[in-house]
Amino acid sequence: MDTEIVRLKRDDSDNEALKRAGEIIKKGGLVAFPTETVYGLGGDALNPDSAGKIYKTKGRPSDNPLIVHIADIKDLEVIADNIPEMAYALADKYWPGPLTMIFDKKDIVPPDTTGGLNTVAVRFPSDKAAADFIRCAGGFVAAPSANLSGKPSPTTAARVKEDMDGRIEMILDGGDCNIGLESTIIDLTVDPPAILRPGFVTAEDVVEIAGRLNEGSKDESGVIVHPKAPGMKYRHYAPKGDMTVINGSEDNVIKYINNEVKDAADKGIRCAVIAVDETKDRYDNVRVFSLGSRNDHEKVGHRLYEVLRKLDDEGIEMIYAEAFKEEGFYAAVMNRMKKAAGGKEIKV
Ligand code: TXA
Ligand code: MG
Repeated sequence: MDTEIVRLKRDDSDNEALKRAGEIIKKGGLVAFPTETVYGLGGDALNPDSAGKIYKTKGRPSDNPLIVHIADIKDLEVIADNIPEMAYALADKYWPGPLTMIFDKKDIVPPDTTGGLNTVAVRFPSDKAAADFIRCAGGFVAAPSANLSGKPSPTTAARVKEDMDGRIEMILDGGDCNIGLESTIIDLTVDPPAILRPGFVTAEDVVEIAGRLNEGSKDESGVIVHPKAPGMKYRHYAPKGDMTVINGSEDNVIKYINNEVKDAADKGIRCAVIAVDETKDRYDNVRVFSLGSRNDHEKVGHRLYEVLRKLDDEGIEMIYAEAFKEEGFYAAVMNRMKKAAGGKEIKV
């Protein structure tokens, strides 16, 4: 299949391309589109065959449910049941935006879209092109991130092309995604609600409206586990290289990484360090990727996935990443870094 790539202009002159993209979805095809978080791989959320196509195209297990994207708050009631008052308060503040809420689903949503669950995840993105595209597509677009399963989510159309060229009908190129990490997911079918995936809307933000959060159950190390987000059980966001997150005081972290890198280099292993502007010049004889200033959490989050993909481009075999304090948006950054590292974190 030939994949058409359309560069969007951020004004009304895009209408023609967005209409064609919408027609592709209505006919059961797939279109990748930009959102403020990451690029999505869209199909008709109400068409069971489209969900099947998405799973096949991504190489994703079909028990891992898809998020349904809407572009009008009124459409929430078409697909979700038993919507609590709190959802409207959250929507008021964070929709359109990087927040996904989980509800009981209505019958109109096929189980294929929700991985067989009786619940549905709903998101109303703030990216204008995304919202226009969703409207042109009939209002309900199922979309996982537009990467092949296991790879970091794409934050540029070039990265979408790398994974999806020849596999889908169209890629809408809207430039860089602002936020660069996937939406916060909160489960409103439990009371109090539970955060299933941290994101730009932080736990602190949700508590302000929800009052309190469901702590779920904790594993033996005290980490909160929410088996209800099926996607979280799969290996995720992974670069090909072997990654470890290093946590501790700045001096300890730098000393530890410099030692490790020296050992690895002696063995001929290609290493890289993921650091910040404040520390990037303190590493010796190693490729260093800075995520930006430690004080600029938005930039750090925005750059993370692109850096993970660059590590692969350069054939890096061993990666050491400086940790961040898990507060606010950095909770989401650390969540993705630890997943990329397959859970490997060393305290120094
Ligand atoms: O920012 C985002 O959310 C992006 C953009 C494209 O909107 N989408 C995205 O989708 O990250 P995906 O499929 O890569 O991640 C969706 C996550 C998965 O971990 C999935 O298991 C979980 O949401 N999920 C979806 N529906 C669910 C449900 N009904 N119950 C629990 N978890 C659900
Ligand atoms: Mg994903």
